[in-house]
Amino acid sequence: MPHSPSAPATKAPASVLVVFGASGDLTKRLLMPALYNLAGNQLLDDAFEVIGVSRSAMTDADFQAKQAEFMSTFTQLRSGDATQTLDETAWRWLEQRLSYVSGSYGDAATYRALAERIGNRNAVFFLAVPSETFEPILDALHASGLMQQAKGKYRRVVVEKPFGRDHASAIALNQHLLGMFKEEQIYRIDHYLGKETVQNISALRFGNRLFESTWNGEHIESVQITAAETVGVEGRGPFYEPTGALRDMVVNHLFQLLALITMEPPTTASADAIRTEKAKAIQAIVPFSASDLQQDVVRGQYTAGTVKGAAVAGYVQEEHVAADSVTETYVAMRLKVDTPRWKDVPFYLRTGKRLATRKTEIVITFRQPQTWAQAPALANTLVLRMQPEEGITLFVNAKVPGQTQALQSVALDFGYKNAFALKPNTGYESLLYDVLRGDQTLYNRADIIEAGWEKVQPILDAVAKNKLKLHPYEAGSEGPQIADNLPCRSGHTWRRLV
Ligand code: BG6
Repeated sequence: MPHSPSAPATKAPASVLVVFGASGDLTKRLLMPALYNLAGNQLLDDAFEVIGVSRSAMTDADFQAKQAEFMSTFTQLRSGDATQTLDETAWRWLEQRLSYVSGSYGDAATYRALAERIGNRNAVFFLAVPSETFEPILDALHASGLMQQAKGKYRRVVVEKPFGRDHASAIALNQHLLGMFKEEQIYRIDHYLGKETVQNISALRFGNRLFESTWNGEHIESVQITAAETVGVEGRGPFYEPTGALRDMVVNHLFQLLALITMEPPTTASADAIRTEKAKAIQAIVPFSASDLQQDVVRGQYTAGTVKGAAVAGYVQEEHVAADSVTETYVAMRLKVDTPRWKDVPFYLRTGKRLATRKTEIVITFRQPQTWAQAPALANTLVLRMQPEEGITLFVNAKVPGQTQALQSVALDFGYKNAFALKPNTGYESLLYDVLRGDQTLYNRADIIEAGWEKVQPILDAVAKNKLKLHPYEAGSEGPQIADNLPCRSGHTWRRLV
């Protein structure tokens, strides 16, 4: 099916993108490839520039060479095709716009060097650094005057996750930021919002009369949101140990998916109208009471097992993980959303590492059709496949051919790769393009972040008091079996991972 093209996107205004953490993984694996893709699609202005900042001593040429080295393997890795080569024109275009400032993040000299290079141009400061470094960099950006916006010029800052580690610290970080900068200068990133399939949730809901009219508890029986991973902590023990699955995945990525499913239609298409509805959706999650927690939240941790045929170690055997660690690598929960639209509809959320398969999907189960005299029908199910097999499947009832009235559930299937000529995409392209253009729709506002932390705070408190059990599950399984009770209690079941 051909895709009818809409008006081509225009180039983002000229700007300097300053990347703190320029010698790190995020820069080479995601930011640089995303910029390369934007360059290839001619969405960056000729006067666009990138300044990398980090402590490593490097010249501009060293920095360019380091990024080029990774980019050439990256194109092959992503396509899975060893013959795939770099688009030299796009890469050269970007490479000659890369420069580097070596310096400590706490040193005023670093910021003086940046000020000199940036002059009075537009600038975006991207914090691709561990969260402990956020505050010193933000303070120094403020103190140096680099965030001051001259007439007609912008200064913006992009803050990666984790944004706080509980409700109080998220509020404190927001207050600190808002004491220095305006909300419209602050771009809080959640990379899930950059995914095409995630952006498509609103398109599906609000762009199709078919769905929006049935998108409520009168027609929908339950909703499941799953983000299953096969990877373990991959050497990220020092980050993951004090974090765990709830902070790493639920409060941000899963709550964003939940908000997109449950929000009311925004009154306008503006970033603020959309974000207001998302904030309200998260604020409407019914708070967990101490007794609900015991039956509505399951925490797990993987033990040794086999993932896709390969033997893997248990979490506590991983590098930089304590032998008696009680960090959860899996969490599942059942919750309710207190709005007239979702009254009495259970939402089941789960995420975990070292599970049987990698799959992020949302399953919307409709209520049983009204009895049709001729044959019993199964409930319709809508499966939104976020990754890796991006697409949507709607299960509907069809009459079995022949001299029978029997019904069978059949799949109406839409796969992105069949419907669209897909361009390479890391998921950061829209996010970068939008910050350069000043569109905050895909970025989180302070109230959205704080609402998420407020809702998980009772769980964090119970864990801190050792009141929420940790259930072992074998690597390569579907998680702790006890998590089956969450949907089971209402007569539902998790959709199998494999
Ligand atoms: C990150 C988490 O935010 O999201 C990781 O820190 C996790 O632990 C990752 O693996 C998952 O992202 P994606 O895009 O692979 O689903």
